[in-house]
Formats: sequence, C-alpha cells, structure tokens
Amino acid sequence: MTLLADQWAGNPKHFWMRGERPEHPVWRDEATDIWHVYGYPEALEVLNNTEVYSSQTARRFAPENGEQFAEGNLTQLDPPEHRELRKLAAHAFTPRMVAALEPRVAEITHELIDQLQGRDRFDLVANLAYPLPIIVISEMLGVPASDYPLFKQWVDDMMAANGRYDLSDDAEKQAQDARDQIEASERITEYLLEHAGERRKRGRDDLLTRFVEAEVDGQRLTDYQIAKVCNLLLVAGHATTAMLLTNSVLCLDAFPDQQAKVRADRSLVLTAFEEVHRFMTPVSAVYRVTSTETELAGKRIPPERMVIVWTAAANRDDRQFTDPNTFDVTRDPNPHIGFGRGIHFCLGAPLARLEGRVALDIIFDRYAVLGLDPQTPPTFVPSQDLISVQDLHITVG
Ligand code: HEM
Repeated sequence: MTLLADQWAGNPKHFWMRGERPEHPVWRDEATDIWHVYGYPEALEVLNNTEVYSSQTARRFAPENGEQFAEGNLTQLDPPEHRELRKLAAHAFTPRMVAALEPRVAEITHELIDQLQGRDRFDLVANLAYPLPIIVISEMLGVPASDYPLFKQWVDDMMAANGRYDLSDDAEKQAQDARDQIEASERITEYLLEHAGERRKRGRDDLLTRFVEAEVDGQRLTDYQIAKVCNLLLVAGHATTAMLLTNSVLCLDAFPDQQAKVRADRSLVLTAFEEVHRFMTPVSAVYRVTSTETELAGKRIPPERMVIVWTAAANRDDRQFTDPNTFDVTRDPNPHIGFGRGIHFCLGAPLARLEGRVALDIIFDRYAVLGLDPQTPPTFVPSQDLISVQDLHITVG
C-alpha cells in the first residue's frame, strides 16, 4: 500500500510516515529560527511545562491582531486565564453528557448510510466522515441544521488559509494568511454571538444555553467568550474527527490482516481507533512559544522562539513504542499524544472517541467488504499541521 508506506504521497515534511527517524529529537531550522520537536519524551517536556512553553503563539504568528485572535480562545491561553475558562467549558461539556449521545450518533450514522443505498462506490469524506461530526456538534450546540452548509464553508475557508500558511514564507505572506484565517474565524464567532444573545433571553435544552448558565466559583462566561468557546468546539470538533474516521478506513484498507482481526472481534474497534490515531495522527503538530530561555535535549532555546511539537512524529518514537512503524490494532496500552497532553488535552476527546467507535462499528455492520476505489485516488490535505485526505473514494459490498 503505497499511500501509507515508503512512497508516502502526502506532505514530504512528514518523513516519519515513511518510517524514517529524525537525526535528533530536537532540531532548529536555521532558515526560520523555528524549533522542531520530534521525540516523545521531549514533546511531553514541552506540553507539560506551561511556564516555559506558552500557548500564546498568536503573538509570534500574527503580531498585528494576535490579541484579537487569542481572546477567549482556550488553545491560546496560559494559566491562570486558561484554568478559569477551561473549568467553565468543561462544566458544560461533560463526559456524561457525551456518553448519553451514543444512540443519536448511531442513528445519524445509519441515516447517512441509508442515503447511499444502492451505491457501490462513494466518497467517504463527503458522505459520512464529514457530515457525521458536524451534525452531532451542531445539534449539541443547538444551531439550525439548515445552517450547516454556511459554517462548513467558513470552516473550509479557515482550513484553506491554514493550509496556505507556512512559517517559512516571507513575513508579508504570513501576515496575509494569518489575516484570512482570523477573518474566517470571526465570521463564525459573529454567527454564534447572535445565538448566544438569543439564549440569554430565552434558554433551550442545548449546549449554548448551558454555557450561558454555566457558573464556577461565582464566574460566568460573557457572550463573546461563549461564542469563542463554541467556535472552537465547532471547528476543532468536526474536521479533526472526520479526518480520524477517514484515516481509520485508510489504515484498515492498507492492512487487511488488521481489518480482519477487528471484524472478527469487535471489542478491538476501540484499540484499533487509538492505533490509527497513533499511526496516522490527524493533528500532526501543536505550537508553543518559549517564555524564557530553556534547554531541551541538550539544546539551548532562547526566549520568544516558536516551537513546533510534532505529535505525529513523537507517536512513532521507538523509545516509547515497540515497533512504532507496525500498525497493530491490539496495541494496548497506547499512550499516543494525538489529543495533546497536559492542561490543553483535547476537551472533545470523549466525543471523538464515541463517534469513531460507533461509526466504525456500523460501517463494518453495513458493509461486509470495503476498499479504496483504485480509479479515484485520494488527495492529501495540504496543511503541514494535518495528516489526512480531502476525499476518500471507496467501493463497498
Ligand atoms: C484541543 C486534537 C476532537 C475540542 C486539542 C488538542 C489536540 C486536539 C491535539 C491540543 C492542542 C494543544 O495542545 O495546543 C483533536 C483530534 C480530534 C479532536 C485529533 C478528533 C479526532 C475534538 C472534538 C472537540 C474538540 C470533537 C469538541 C467538540 C477541543 C478543544 C481543545 C482541543 C476545546 C482546547 C483545549 C484547551 O486548550 O484546553 N484537540 N481534537 N476536539 N480540542 Fe480537540
């Protein structure tokens, strides 16, 4: 299977996808003065030390309007601001609430597959992997179904700007790409701000209302904070899950013996999903900025330097994982860092895991055979921060 092996057709920067190891777990790109972290223990060191490694990266990549981008954005905050906002967000978005969604996730998956009745080939991304999480998160938030195409377009615009964005570009192009990203994101925030205002007047049984009502230690969220948190849930909550679901089908197609194992023992669906996350990590990198001078793997990093933690590469570190380039659906424990680590650990991980497990199980139930359509090879997502495909044409039987 050439897509996932030695002739990795995706981004050439993702060398670990070809089974290659970095020369050093930490490397400074002299051309850009950006620090790249590839090793697993080094990645943990960065993600667990928020005093040295700040999440306020917008001060480096979008100095003009970084503050606007960072305001109310959980992923951009350090303690203590992060602690307060995260507590409020977690108070409304609980694992128990997510667990209760299982029947609805199954229902939506079946409905989407029902619409494909009679077809023996289709694009998995457009017809299932993408709509499923966007329907789930929209229903949770309480925004109307008729608006899905609208915010799908805004999220696509954001991803396109992110895909073009490259820290090695010249400053003017970087600034323009950052502006485009912020503009697309602001459109989503404005839309959600309107909905938050409505819930303030009249509550409903939805997540937006829970955010309006959420109170921790006498603190409440402002409408703008609610709109930003919901923006993050909407954006972080669907494209990533869609990519992981797509990667699952890709990996299980690439390794038919592993697919057979999972089909024979469905209790393996969960460990298989985690292994896909390790082996083909959709969010391949997270970013930090050094607040002070520090040392990592024997290298001295000055303050105010951009640090890219390549979680996808760390997930292939043989100091942590036995046979890291072997895709093994029974791997357990599997402490991959595909959802990050430390205080910014993905808030939506329980939801992503639920959607992945339920959808994969139903896909196996409904299709005894499934494989990639050789006539229409997939296109890879262009961003260096993401590892997945934009479309995945499959044949089913
Ligand atoms: C944070 C990945 C699904 C909401 C993160 C981070 C990663 C990640 C790597 C850490 C970022 C950092 O350290 O800078 C993923 C992947 C997903 C997924 C791979 C799907 C497979 C979701 C879903 C939601 C969500 C379904 C919500 C509906 C969030 C939020 C944060 C976050 C709110 C910020 C947490 C914080 O900064 O405290 N995610 N995510 N994610 N994710 Fe996810």
